[in-house]
Amino acid sequence: MASSPKRRADPDASAAAPPLLAWFDARQRDDVAWRGERDPYAILVAEVMAQQTRVETAAPYHRRFMDRFPDVWTLAEAEEDDVLGLWEGLGYYARARNLRRAARRVVSEYGGRIPRAVSELRTLPGVGPYTAGAVASVAFGLPEPAVDGNARRVLSRLGDLETASPSELDRAARALIAAVPERPGDVNQALMDLGSAVCTPRGPRCGACPLSSRCLALRRGTIGERPPRKRRARSPERAEAAAIVRRGGRVLVLRRPSDGLLGGLWDFPSVALPAPTPTPPVPALTRVLREGFGLDCRVGEEIRVLRHTFSHFRLRLTVHRARWRSGEVTSARQHRWVGRGEFGDLAFPAYLRRLINEDVSPRAVSPRNAR
Ligand code: ADE
Repeated sequence: MASSPKRRADPDASAAAPPLLAWFDARQRDDVAWRGERDPYAILVAEVMAQQTRVETAAPYHRRFMDRFPDVWTLAEAEEDDVLGLWEGLGYYARARNLRRAARRVVSEYGGRIPRAVSELRTLPGVGPYTAGAVASVAFGLPEPAVDGNARRVLSRLGDLETASPSELDRAARALIAAVPERPGDVNQALMDLGSAVCTPRGPRCGACPLSSRCLALRRGTIGERPPRKRRARSPERAEAAAIVRRGGRVLVLRRPSDGLLGGLWDFPSVALPAPTPTPPVPALTRVLREGFGLDCRVGEEIRVLRHTFSHFRLRLTVHRARWRSGEVTSARQHRWVGRGEFGDLAFPAYLRRLINEDVSPRAVSPRNAR
């Protein structure tokens, strides 16, 4: 498709780098806990945490994580449960498992030094193009782009990039980085900060933007269309029921398989309630407890309905009380009968933690939740 002269990219986009850095020096975010950090391991941990979590949410987690696992050797030797425990509430738990595996690889293959090259960083579990670029540029000063959602918005508006494909964004970021070769990490972080504070998705503050005089989308009136929205269908709803099975003063909990959704975290026995016919939860739970877990239980009243949105589906979880009558657990999953006060020792998905604190074990003080 021939592009009209009007649509040609700005040949001098790299001229935006000095005003961008001047803005960064004066106005950079003050809530990025790891700013100024030089330790590549600390930066790797931070950037993995920030992959799917807001920077301000990740900050206290990063502090606690670094206190507990201050270097790559400590993390490599840590139990997966302890790593997941510190991750509880951050979501996307595969990140935590991968980070621990990455630490083990760094120790076994790189003598404990985080590799510098993007090509090597990319071979570590859980390290994609963004994270590799962020570590290479911020920790090692290498001229590598790190384009997160905020930087993508800035770059696509600055150059009025209609499709904002990964290769276009990569090229645009490299042009800016090349203009000030001594500060690649700062260029990347300035783009991210500008996108979060000024060049926002709706209602960008173009009057406060250091790049407004060079912004092609502003000049052409296409700000609202840049970057193109990724159309996502509403994710499907998945209905499940879970049972809080009591036996004496204890409650049955199960560890999820370590390689799946919420892998390695703990939860309660549950059953899918297939759509579209609404399946009554009480008989479904009674049956799964007997046939799947070898337990005869009286399933009682509903405690509450929990909702949680995962990246690819929405969970609707009906939680019931249940009382153990006989049988021993036959499930292949690791299980425990936990008493009051022991819930704080195990990592649960965040959407179950409130239920635990309010309905299951109200007097249990969870150190992890005392944030
Ligand atoms: N988001 C993730 N990492 C970041 C960083 N280093 N600076 C600004 N925003 C970020």
